Amino acid sequence: MTLARVLVTRRLPDGGLDPLTAAGHEMVLPPPDDTPLAPSELAGVASTVDGIVCVLTDRIDADVLQAGAGRLRVVADVAVGYDNIDVTTADALGIAVCNTPGVLDETTADLAFFLILAASRRTSDAEADLREGRWTGFRMDRFLGQDVHGRTLGVVGFGRIGQAVARRAAGFGMEVLHHARHDTGMPGWIPDLDDLLRVADVVTLHVPLTPHTTALVDARRLALMKPSAVLVNTSRGPVLDEEALADALERGAIFGAGLDVYEREPQVHPRLLSAPHTVLLPHIGSASEGTRRRMAQLACEGVVAVLAGERPPNLVTR
Ligand code: DGY
Repeated sequence: MTLARVLVTRRLPDGGLDPLTAAGHEMVLPPPDDTPLAPSELAGVASTVDGIVCVLTDRIDADVLQAGAGRLRVVADVAVGYDNIDVTTADALGIAVCNTPGVLDETTADLAFFLILAASRRTSDAEADLREGRWTGFRMDRFLGQDVHGRTLGVVGFGRIGQAVARRAAGFGMEVLHHARHDTGMPGWIPDLDDLLRVADVVTLHVPLTPHTTALVDARRLALMKPSAVLVNTSRGPVLDEEALADALERGAIFGAGLDVYEREPQVHPRLLSAPHTVLLPHIGSASEGTRRRMAQLACEGVVAVLAGERPPNLVTR
């Protein structure tokens, strides 16, 4: 195999680069302080490497891909969602794109279920009260939340992560319904998203970000939800209209929300920071040591395979 040069844009967990090391490829590593490359820097390096291992905050757009055309053969995202990569242009230029499906499903589902519990039971508000010294003792009327058991969970997007959340919900005594655009053939499929939003007590979003899912949950759809409902998003921020969500929470049109992703990360909508019954996390859905290591390895395995002329299982381009 001819040895190649691979750009790794950000620091990856220990062991994450093992496949590249084992293949003997030269690596262009991120600076010690892990500063992200500016778009112009990415485009500058793209023409000097055969592969790129990137993360979801790196925009691999047409400029970067065209700059790399001729030498660049593969871009691997250390993420399952690859909306940061212009896959159409990559395909047209014959540059392979890989992602990390499968290895983060259970870890992300754990965090989604944590948000379902935390937002329903208002644990962030209650803990902040205690930590800030405002707790004066047990009371019957403080931090009353919504039960999770016995309620209906609406899973929007029923891929691997959505199904992993559904399995957890069954263990918590929830009835589970789901919406996907195409009939899943599985019990609980609701063809119309609006119908699911009307009946669900908890709604959890697990769709990829595409033109079709941008602002999928907007003001009109939020208005369909029950006033006691909780909304959880661990997919991609732009799937949800944050301004409309802040409005719904402030008016008590829905009960609460649990968010791990945002429209303009790392900015968080200021009205969400003070919205009632809201649990906010900084995009840590897949952040366990083992899962992040495995994601990095899978992305690097994709690069090694493409550079060896093979077709990796995690290829998203044709
Ligand atoms: C992904 O893989 O798409 C996640 O958002 C990363 O945590």
